[in-house]
Amino acid sequence: MASGANQQTQALAKPDFTEAQASALVESVFGLKVSKIQPLPSYDDQNFHVHISRTKDTADGPAECVLKISNTEASKNPDLIEVQNCVIMFLKAAGFPTASVCHTKEDNMMSLVSVDNGSGTRSHLLRLLTFLPGSPVAQTPVSPRLLYEIGRLAAKLDKTLESFHHPKLQSLHRDSFIWNLKNVPLLEKYMDALGQNGNREIVEQVIQLFKKEVVTKLSHFRECINHGDLNDYNILVQPSESASGDAVYQVSGVLDFGDMSYGCYVFEVAITIMYMMIESKNPIQVGGHILAGFESVVPLTAVERSALYLLVCGRFCQSLVMAAYSCQLHPENREYLMITAKTGWKHLQQMFDMGQKAVEEVWFETARSYEARRSM
Ligand SMILES: Nc1ncnc2c1ncn2[C@@H]1O[C@H](COP(=O)(O)OP(=O)(O)O)[C@@H](O)[C@H]1O
Ligand SMILES: [Mg+2]
Repeated sequence: MASGANQQTQALAKPDFTEAQASALVESVFGLKVSKIQPLPSYDDQNFHVHISRTKDTADGPAECVLKISNTEASKNPDLIEVQNCVIMFLKAAGFPTASVCHTKEDNMMSLVSVDNGSGTRSHLLRLLTFLPGSPVAQTPVSPRLLYEIGRLAAKLDKTLESFHHPKLQSLHRDSFIWNLKNVPLLEKYMDALGQNGNREIVEQVIQLFKKEVVTKLSHFRECINHGDLNDYNILVQPSESASGDAVYQVSGVLDFGDMSYGCYVFEVAITIMYMMIESKNPIQVGGHILAGFESVVPLTAVERSALYLLVCGRFCQSLVMAAYSCQLHPENREYLMITAKTGWKHLQQMFDMGQKAVEEVWFETARSYEARRSM
């Protein structure tokens, strides 16, 4: 789920399995013996890091997995989760560092379990994915080179998914999905969460500009399937040594396909830029390196490039408005949500104050410098 925020949480019943229950499920559903289990961070779902005991029957299987337990709402849409599983496997076969999907004892990719918590029965879909190595980008010093690689990966992922076929692909047409970048105007419904201050004003201005300058151009953008949430906790990296002996970070994991939907190439690059800006000391510079990496695989058209600035601003608004909304619903998470949001508001304000032309100049000039190097 998008970093620092979550989607419409009102109707979600987050699973609350204990470690012992989760461990028993891994054993009964997947036939694997657990030696250690720890909760992983998650907002709407429940994730556990599971260590598997090797037995003679499971000697070839994974040693570490992630048990993903979907919330009740998501569990009502098994088609969507099935497509997500198939995408993860398709990308892995194509060479991406995505997890493998472990099969149940009945040889299925997921299993629906029902629990009675005293006030009624709830159903949750269970999946077991292999654990990927590395640390989140959010906890790593990010160099221009890594930003370029992340941009390149985002483009390769979308391009590779052009040849993904599945009978239930229609489930990725999630028209009013709040996190699809075309849906920035839907944020108007959540504005009350912002109160009356400068933050609200800036969001209102972005939405108006977005309607005028982006919504009117949507039909000119090339469509594709978007991962839709390449945030700094959904990309794992690990060091590898370069020829000069310095540590160079490489992407070791792409996680969390829960926000996938039909979108556009330019959405993916905008989303990636926004999340990589969050932790950066030079946030305005970030976009140029990501864009250069993205365009080394999928060059943007002039009309797509002209929308990039407002798309990045729009993504900031989606993340910040939904974080404020989550805060209203879950005041207990306020401290965590507000820390992330504080940096976000600062970056959005800075981008907005600089204006489209000045920000584009920085981005496009950086991207041009990579092109010049490539053609040398
Ligand atoms: N397959 C995996 N390998 C390693 N770590 C994982 C894996 N899946 C999830 N995690 C860890 O758990 C966190 C939350 O999982 P994620 O799938 O991103 O769920 P959410 O939708 O709650 O963001 C990730 O940021 C990562 O740290
Ligand atoms: Mg995530």
